[in-house]
Amino acid sequence: MTHEILADQVDYYRCRAGEYDVTAYGDVAAFRARIARLVAIMRPAGRVLEMACGTGLWTEALAGWADTVVAIDAAPEMVATARGRVRSGNVRFEVADVFSWTTEHRFDVIFFAAWLSHVPMSRLEQFWQMLRRPLAEGGRVLFVDEPIDVREKEAYVPGMDEIVERRLNDGRAFRVVKNFIDPEAFRARLLELGWACEIRRDGIDLVYGEARLAS
Ligand SMILES: C[S@@+](CC[C@H](N)C(=O)[O-])C[C@H]1O[C@@H](n2cnc3c(N)ncnc32)[C@H](O)[C@@H]1O
Repeated sequence: MTHEILADQVDYYRCRAGEYDVTAYGDVAAFRARIARLVAIMRPAGRVLEMACGTGLWTEALAGWADTVVAIDAAPEMVATARGRVRSGNVRFEVADVFSWTTEHRFDVIFFAAWLSHVPMSRLEQFWQMLRRPLAEGGRVLFVDEPIDVREKEAYVPGMDEIVERRLNDGRAFRVVKNFIDPEAFRARLLELGWACEIRRDGIDLVYGEARLAS
């Protein structure tokens, strides 16, 4: 079941790529300014890995702070849009699945926006375990996502806690995982998994966090 949903999730974003920026962010120029502000707070310096980069809106801001950015996403259509948008010479894009991608490189920062909430609960431990290897000593995991407060925006499939139905502009329906972030509960869960984490709010609709391996 999880495997099917994860595949559906990639299909959904492949098909949504052309309409993503407007349907996700509405006023893209205004959201870009918000991205720039949040990234400036998080200060992603050094070697940065961005997971699930989408259309590259966050990537372009990361590129301004980082020495280098490797940005991966499973949807080739998303990566094509991101490549067209982000021309900085310090960014390299790759089409890759977060759950199977491996690298020999180490990163000072691993960043993801609007990705954590798409990780099924059954894969959460594996996902955070997987982040340990590419993270340089003393490195940080930075994330931005949506808080539990805005849960009502989604149409949960009856009887399924973490699966929602999404529709594209043309009416096609897909099922994706959506686990909104409850900051306190999530912080406690990460601590169980060996990560010390701080989560802050930005407005009512976003949270951003920084996690480090607990000593
Ligand atoms: C909500 S979008 C976020 C995009 C971008 N980070 C942003 O905040 O605008 C989720 C992204 O996850 C990507 N994605 C979905 N499943 C993935 C997987 N298994 N591996 C890598 N990327 C995946 C999708 O293609 C999509 O670009």
